Amino acid sequence: MEILKTLHSYFAYIVLIILIIATANALIGWLTKKEFRFDKDLRLSLFALVLSHLQLVIGLIVFFVSANGLKAIQTLGMGGLNSAARLLAVEHPFINILAIALITVGWSRHKKTDDSTVKFRRIGLMYGAGLILILSRIPWGQWFQ
Ligand code: HEM
Ligand code: HEM
Repeated sequence: MEILKTLHSYFAYIVLIILIIATANALIGWLTKKEFRFDKDLRLSLFALVLSHLQLVIGLIVFFVSANGLKAIQTLGMGGLNSAARLLAVEHPFINILAIALITVGWSRHKKTDDSTVKFRRIGLMYGAGLILILSRIPWGQWFQ
């Protein structure tokens, strides 16, 4: 199952890059009142959504099979986890589920209006909030070490 963890690690780069681009694109579109284009803006935000959902599924599997996920909580108990172990087993998984839920809400709500500026605003704010949550709980210290 090491392969899934490696996949989750590599995939993290792609997801983060696309999320940053999609968030920046939406914030710029909102603030400069651009027209929301289906060939470019919709594709970019849909791509970021799909990659986030894929990373969610891979992350969920890693959580259930890795020694640093659910097993760590079961063996040590919530109180027995030190801060590094708690980041991997609890904070990273649960904050990222919340983050991807926010991104999905942003995507879902942009479809409910025809106003380009509102579309951009909904995507920009929700993707941005999700991105900040994700960045706040990356195990930077162990990412490919
Ligand atoms: C966009 C969302 C996410 C990103 C960018 C991300 C990124 C990462 C990164 C960079 C690592 C460190 C990998 C390494 O050691 O090389 C990691 C580990 C981990 N991730 Fe995620 N992740 C995301 C979502 C999730 C979700 C939703 C879950 C579970 C529900 C999850 C579960 C885990 C677990 C359990 C580990 C620890 C693996 C281990 O050390 O054995 N991740 N993640
Ligand atoms: C735990 C697994 C997953 C959950 C809970 C989940 C949940 C959701 C939810 C609630 C939506 C609705 C958003 C809306 O109202 O538009 C959605 C949309 C979507 N998801 Fe996922 N998803 C998961 C996994 C995946 C995977 C693995 C993929 C593909 C690689 C994927 C691709 C998509 C796509 C393409 C949409 C957009 C549909 C559209 O509006 O055109 N999802 N997902």
